[in-house]
This record gives sequence, structure tokens and C-alpha cells, in this order.
Amino acid sequence: MYESYYGFKKTPFMRSIDTKELYQHQDFVEVKHRLKYVMEKRTFAVITGPVGAGKTTVLRCIREELNNNIYTYIYISQSALTPKIFYNEILKQLNLNTVYAKPEAKLMVNKAVLSMFNANKIPVIVVDEAHLLSDAMLEEIRFLINFDMDSMSPLSLILVGQPELRQRLKLRTLEAIAQRVMVNYHLDGLDRPGTEDYILTHLKVAGLGTPLFTDEAINEIFQYTAGIPRKINNLCEKCLLEGYIHEKKLIDDILVKRVIKNEFE
Ligand SMILES: Nc1ncnc2c1ncn2[C@@H]1O[C@H](COP(=O)(O)OP(=O)(O)OP(=O)(O)O)[C@@H](O)[C@H]1O
Ligand SMILES: [Mg+2]
Repeated sequence: MYESYYGFKKTPFMRSIDTKELYQHQDFVEVKHRLKYVMEKRTFAVITGPVGAGKTTVLRCIREELNNNIYTYIYISQSALTPKIFYNEILKQLNLNTVYAKPEAKLMVNKAVLSMFNANKIPVIVVDEAHLLSDAMLEEIRFLINFDMDSMSPLSLILVGQPELRQRLKLRTLEAIAQRVMVNYHLDGLDRPGTEDYILTHLKVAGLGTPLFTDEAINEIFQYTAGIPRKINNLCEKCLLEGYIHEKKLIDDILVKRVIKNEFE
């Protein structure tokens, strides 16, 4: 609708943005480097961040960049994860037969991990939405990182979730996990210059090289969204629609304030 009005070649602020076109801000690049280090060293990481900060996007990007000859990437994101489902899901992603009962499935995962280790491959298990893990699941995670009584570390494990994940790992019963975390990183919202660059990146990806939002408009967007990418996307998209309806070639702060008032308050 508004795409041709503003001269876009495709819809901007889309979730499906190609990983090669992502805005590679400093935090984003840093998380990537740290996670790659954790993977290489076969250790353990916890990444937290508020809703919509770009946690899953970082994972998507890393997956694309990994050398598949070395790493086997297993990505799990399920809200109602039980140990049985967890182990069977790993088996499924390894193209192995899934076994129904938990002890058997666990044994099979163990075997598979060990054989990958012997073949110089590194299994990377990523659990997204990890703040939703049950106590029973965290217990299994503890088991996984305690692989073979600590004498070796055949796999890399990455927990990603909202900030409360960090609080949960501070509990005494989970001390064993907390102590083994090699990388702890909090991915927060962008700062003001980052918010501007983020918006410009999305506009450019959609085929627009000229500025569309005034400086004051970006100030408003930053204030309202706290630099959280998903919030920026939602707000900018609504601003573009509003601008198109009111035939505004430039998005200014008055328009942004109106959209916030009408759509979000
Ligand atoms: N670096 C980036 N460049 C471009 N777009 C991004 C970037 N980071 C995040 N986004 C966009 O922001 C939105 C939210 O990102 P994402 O889903 O990764 O957040 P999240 O932290 O995993 O959120 P949740 O807590 O809800 O799982 C997505 O639409 C994504 O495409
Ligand atoms: Mg996510």
C-alpha cells in the first residue's frame, strides 16, 4: 500500500529480513563473537534480554555463519518443554529415531553426543525461551553440562531468554549451572544513534536510500521504544501507514506522537 507511495522496493521493517542484511550493531556483533567462542570451546552461555531485543535474531544469524562441517546446531524453542520432549527433539534434529521414554531418549542423546565428539564434531544445543524452563528441565540441563562427571565437555549449550532467566539461575539448587557459565551476556535495547542506524538499515534494505524520518521523529521513536527492535518495527510500520493516509512524504515527530497516542496508548 504505502510501499509505492514512498518508493520502497519491498515492505520495510519485516521480521523475515535476510540475515546478511541485519543491522550489525556493536552489541549484536559482540554477542555473536562471544557465542562463537563458547561453541568453539564447547562450553556454556546464558544470553538474556527484554522481549523483542533481537535474541532469536542473533541465533538465526549465527546459525547461518557456522561451519556445518564442524558444528551440529540443534535449536529448541518450545514453551512446554519436558525432559522427554527435549531429548526426543534433539534426536529428531540429529535425524535419529525418536524413542518414547525419557531414560532411553537420554541415553541415545548421550551416545550421539559422544560419537560426535569422537568424530571431532561439536554439538551446539541452543534452548531459546529458556526463562520458561521448568525445574525438571533445568535439572536435565544441569545433567547435560555435567556430562560424564565433568571430566570432559563434548558439547556447547546456550540458554537464551528473558531477564528472569538470570534470576532463576541464581537459585541455590542451580548454582551448579551458574558456576559453569562461561559467557553471560545481556542484550539490551539500542541507544539513540543505534535506533537511527537501525531504522536507516531497514529503509535501505527495503530499497530506500533517502531519509524518511526527521531527527525529532527518531527522538520520539527512541523514547517510546527504548531502542527495542520489535517495538521500533511496529511503530515505524504504523507511522508509514499513517503518513501514507495523510499524504506526508516525511515522517515527523507530530505524526509519531499521534500514532503512539492512537495506536499504543
Ligand atoms: N540486528 C537486527 N537487524 C534487523 N532487525 C532486527 C535485528 N534484531 C532484531 N531485529 C528484528 O526485531 C524483531 C525482534 O527480534 P527477535 O524476535 O530476535 O527478538 P527476541 O529478543 O528473540 O524477542 P522475544 O523475547 O519475544 O523472543 C524481529 O522482527 C527482528 O527481525
Ligand atoms: Mg525470541
